[in-house]
Amino acid sequence: MKFPLKIVAADETETIDLAKKFSGVLKPGNTVALIGDLGTGKTFFTKNVIAAFGNSEVSSPTFAIVNVYETKFKIYHFDFYRIKKVGELYDIGFDDYLADSDAITFIEWADLFPEILPEHRFEIKINSIDETKREFIIESL
Ligand SMILES: Nc1ncnc2c1ncn2[C@@H]1O[C@H](COP(=O)(O)OP(=O)(O)OP(=O)(O)O)[C@@H](O)[C@H]1O
Ligand SMILES: [Mg+2]
Repeated sequence: MKFPLKIVAADETETIDLAKKFSGVLKPGNTVALIGDLGTGKTFFTKNVIAAFGNSEVSSPTFAIVNVYETKFKIYHFDFYRIKKVGELYDIGFDDYLADSDAITFIEWADLFPEILPEHRFEIKINSIDETKREFIIESL
C-alpha cells in the first residue's frame, strides 16, 4: 500500500477488503485518525481492521469514548464525537494511551481536536458518495 491513497469502495465488501489491506501496514505505536460525516463508515472500517487482528466483537466507542481490545496488538479505539472540551481527553489520560508504544490507536472524529493528534499518524478521510459507495483518502503523516 502506497500513500497518499485515494480509492473508492463500491460497497461494504470493498471497504472490508481495504481495511484488511490497511491492517497490514499498521505497527504498534501507530495512530489512525478517522475523519468523515455521521454514518460514512469510520466504525465500520475500524471494526474490520481490528477483525483482521483477530477480534470481531468491536462496537462503536461513541458512548464509552474509548474501547480497549486485546488482539494480535493492543488496540485503543476512541471516538471524540461526544467530547466537548479537550480537557475531558486529558482527564481520561489520553496522553498515556497515545504514549503506549505497544498499542495501535484509532480515533473517530479526530478532526474535532486536531491539536491533540500526534504529528506522525495515518489520516483517513471518508466521503459518502451514495448509499454504499465511499471514497477513502488515506495519508501517512
Ligand atoms: N462501502 C461502505 N463502507 C462502509 N460502510 C458502509 C458502506 N456501504 C454501506 N455502509 C454502511 O454505512 C454505515 C456506516 O456506519 P458507521 O457506524 O461505521 O459510521 P461512522 O462513520 O462510524 O458514524 P458515526 O459518525 O456515527 O460514528 C454502516 O451501516 C455500514 O453498513
Ligand atoms: Mg462511528
